Amino acid sequence: MVLLLPILLALLASVLGGLYMLGMFRKRRPNEPPLDKGTIPWLGYALDFRKNTAGFLRKMQKKHGDIFTIQIGGYYYTFVTDPLSFGPIVREARARLDFEKFAMELVARVFGYHSGTNDHKLLEKASTKHLMGDGLVLMTQAMMDNLQNLMLHGVGSVDREKKWQQDGLFNYSYNIVFRAGYLALFGNEPIKSHGNSEKAKKHDRDHSEELFGEFRKYDKLFPRLAYAVLPPKDKLEAERLKRLFWNMLSIKKTLQKENISGWITDQFQDRADNGMPEYMQDRFMLLLLWASQGNTGPASFWLLLYLMKHPEAMKAVSEEVDRVLKENGQEVKPGGAQINLTRDMLLKTPVLDSVVEETLRLTAAPVLIRAVKENLNLKISSGKEYAIRKGDRVAIFPYTAVQMDPEVHPEPEKFKYNRFLNEDGTKKSEFFKNGKRLKYFTMPWGAGTTICPGRFFAVNELKQFVFLMLSYFEFELVNPKEEIPDIDPNRWGFGTMQPTHDVQFKYRLRY
Ligand code: HEM
Repeated sequence: MVLLLPILLALLASVLGGLYMLGMFRKRRPNEPPLDKGTIPWLGYALDFRKNTAGFLRKMQKKHGDIFTIQIGGYYYTFVTDPLSFGPIVREARARLDFEKFAMELVARVFGYHSGTNDHKLLEKASTKHLMGDGLVLMTQAMMDNLQNLMLHGVGSVDREKKWQQDGLFNYSYNIVFRAGYLALFGNEPIKSHGNSEKAKKHDRDHSEELFGEFRKYDKLFPRLAYAVLPPKDKLEAERLKRLFWNMLSIKKTLQKENISGWITDQFQDRADNGMPEYMQDRFMLLLLWASQGNTGPASFWLLLYLMKHPEAMKAVSEEVDRVLKENGQEVKPGGAQINLTRDMLLKTPVLDSVVEETLRLTAAPVLIRAVKENLNLKISSGKEYAIRKGDRVAIFPYTAVQMDPEVHPEPEKFKYNRFLNEDGTKKSEFFKNGKRLKYFTMPWGAGTTICPGRFFAVNELKQFVFLMLSYFEFELVNPKEEIPDIDPNRWGFGTMQPTHDVQFKYRLRY
């Protein structure tokens, strides 16, 4: 009996410890948001969240209101669903609400990259210099040159004359925008290795096509890789793909290229100066590839599809494209010079800007997550303060919270090309909830310190692609009556959504 007691006590302690770890004892404390642990210990609502984030969060919002804490895979997430209350979360100091801890675990799992000190600062520095302001002039030119190589090579040759070609619109748009964006950032094949520029350009086309093919395999595995739920066979495939990208994008190979963007070279140099080993830099290149190319291609698909399904929008954008080209003395004609879109020209397109904004409102759905580093009080717009515990996470899902809120955006399911235009044709940025003006009325790029640093470049890429499609090609859906496909629910939370299936379209050169 004397011996049995300590054993029993130890057993009891480990059972209680286990239950504690599973979150069984957590109770809502005074001033805390409503707590909903779900029915499965530890997992909580992980399965519902992963199955359909948007549907699940809508249900929770209905049940609990503007703020609630739910258990997902052992963590407690406080979701704030009132867009008037986003400010304090987005602006809170990193010492209290930090994004990096959560992001570090994720990027280690999906890219094999372990970040160094000052990592985020270096990213910000390079992005401010090369993806915004004057840096964008150079990037816009690089994107244009590469789009032309991919879309217009062989114009004037017999086999490209006015023959209809058919493809999936998603595949076509993603392919072109991914490859052109990749070449613009990571550089071109040097002409001197091939003797002439045509051969080097052909190499760029072939190499980027191969990369895109492999990227799509990885892209399809990505959501389950991020959630760490890949079955063993797919896990092996994800590992194979990661290694392949580390090799294809390695610093050694990249530095042999021409026209490498300052965004890539500066980041490499800064990390080398910080003592990051080269193999880790190779892995960082995969992170940069995914961040820069995983969203813009799918967005370009939705953009073209919405235009094709909304003739009034297509007409308004086509007129704007023609006007901008004409004002700059450019015209697409047989045997004429290829058009060149500068960043300045792309600043004069309010209609296309509204179309891009509307497309992203409907299809970009990131989850923004911050780790709570110390106990804090969160004041929401109603004036009420909620206690948030250290060790939890605070999250925002702008898609359901604001982008699809009928009070903010009437008939939110509908694509309205001029939703972000005032009556006088200028950019509209006044949207209201409960009679109060919203700062965050659509958030495809996230917000605060983690706001997408590539957003200006991304918008330019989309606009350049549309300009070239409209001015050089006739294109239409193979079945004009085909409905816009649903959003694939597997990817909620990861940025631009993808469709459940592709839509066939045909295109041919105008001249
Ligand atoms: C339609 C296209 C794009 C969308 C919708 C998009 C959206 C986003 C979002 C939502 C985030 C995370 C924000 C957060 O967690 O708060 C992000 C991060 C990021 N994006 Fe983009 N993005 C796009 C294109 C691009 C492009 C073209 C580049 C680069 C050339 C880029 C570079 C990055 C990087 C490096 C990060 C990580 C930032 C960090 O860790 O702070 N993105 N993007």
